[in-house]
Amino acid sequence: MSAAPTQPPAVAISGSPRSRSRSKLLAELTLEALAERGYETRLIDLATLPADALLARGESPEVDEAIKVVGRARIVIAATPTYRALYSGLLKAFFDLMPQSHLHGKLCIGLQTGTAREHYLSPEYGLRPLFVSLEGIPAAGIYATDDEFVEGGPSARLREWVNELADRAVVLSGREPTRP
Ligand SMILES: Cc1cc2nc3c(=O)[nH]c(=O)nc-3n(C[C@H](O)[C@H](O)[C@H](O)COP(=O)(O)O)c2cc1C
Repeated sequence: MSAAPTQPPAVAISGSPRSRSRSKLLAELTLEALAERGYETRLIDLATLPADALLARGESPEVDEAIKVVGRARIVIAATPTYRALYSGLLKAFFDLMPQSHLHGKLCIGLQTGTAREHYLSPEYGLRPLFVSLEGIPAAGIYATDDEFVEGGPSARLREWVNELADRAVVLSGREPTRP
């Protein structure tokens, strides 16, 4: 008999300051797809955490806990809107609080939304080096333009991308695949 998992192996960090957020929706879809494949999952919504602690101007048990949760994860997903051709400042602030090597050996996946198709390389020059700076192992993620969200929901194509991404993540994280 194996013990029930006590740690969430797949964690998504939502870096949009907006509570109704496309990139957060993309993170939730990806976590759902990973849960269907046997992962324990957890969403960290940075929009709900105290801003002073995120800016290192104060202390917060919630922020400390969020950092610990990331430290225990096998897969770390960063979901962010494109702001000025890069990830959001909110996401960066959270990553700045992580100790060096915090992502050591973890599979790291970026999910980015933006209005401009031209910024599709932004995860490559933004999120990828961000993960590597903390010793994470970056894997291909998703850059989705806002027109992939129809009436607030994801397009069929976007759902397909998410399922493909989840299949890849299972293989790359070295876990036995369990399909729904
Ligand atoms: C301050 C700000 C800057 C933005 N800069 C860009 C940008 O450089 N490139 C882009 O494609 N979209 C840009 N956008 C659009 C958002 O990235 C896009 O609407 C995104 O899907 C919003 O994600 P969210 O719903 O998760 O917050 C910007 C939006 C804001 C508010």
